[in-house]
Amino acid sequence: MITTLVFDAYGTLFDVTSAARRAAQASGDSLLASAWPRLAADWRRKQLEYTWLRTITGDYAPFDHVTAQSLDWALDAHNQTDPALRTSLLDLFHHLVPFPEVAEVLANLKASGYRLAILSNGTPAMLDAATQSAGLADAFDAILSVETVRHYKPSHHVYGMVETHLGTKPAQTLFVSSNGWDIAGAAHFGLWTAWVNRDSAPVDRLPQRPAHVIPDLSHLPRLLS
Ligand code: 2OP
Repeated sequence: MITTLVFDAYGTLFDVTSAARRAAQASGDSLLASAWPRLAADWRRKQLEYTWLRTITGDYAPFDHVTAQSLDWALDAHNQTDPALRTSLLDLFHHLVPFPEVAEVLANLKASGYRLAILSNGTPAMLDAATQSAGLADAFDAILSVETVRHYKPSHHVYGMVETHLGTKPAQTLFVSSNGWDIAGAAHFGLWTAWVNRDSAPVDRLPQRPAHVIPDLSHLPRLLS
């Protein structure tokens, strides 16, 4: 029986593209107005690549550092040199917009008696800032950061934190993520999984497939009933 729901943060609860979108809106720059979706995608792609590479090579650095370095690559690739834009993007990444259904779904699940947690690459400070600015500070029983194990997802050290810190067996845990590779890592570890496929993307061709696929988090209560 599922007793605990563990959520990925970035891309699952919080819209990672909102930082570049809001920076473009605030700047009024016409070039950025059309380029921000690609800037956001390049930033995110490099951010994830750097986490994987740093885990493979054993060069762990905290996620705020990786986030800044991947942003520097993306700004360079888009010929953006304004230091104020860099500062604004990093600040906005710490205060990302949550997806619209998140607050209500979490409140419903909590009222139904589920334990709720975040398991994320983010540092504790980043996750605190994100949950507080989204009004979700009281929504979770625990916020678990990879900072504790100094490995990034999909390392088994990360998914092992659920049992170590929450005392919940993998078979009692539903791991919820919009990142297909994160779902595959969690499934490999033995967690139940729900892939949030907001963009109707193809399923990742990895050994483990998601146990469930949902278009957004509002489908979770029905999935669990
Ligand atoms: C997270 O750990 C993978 O970005 C994703 O929150």
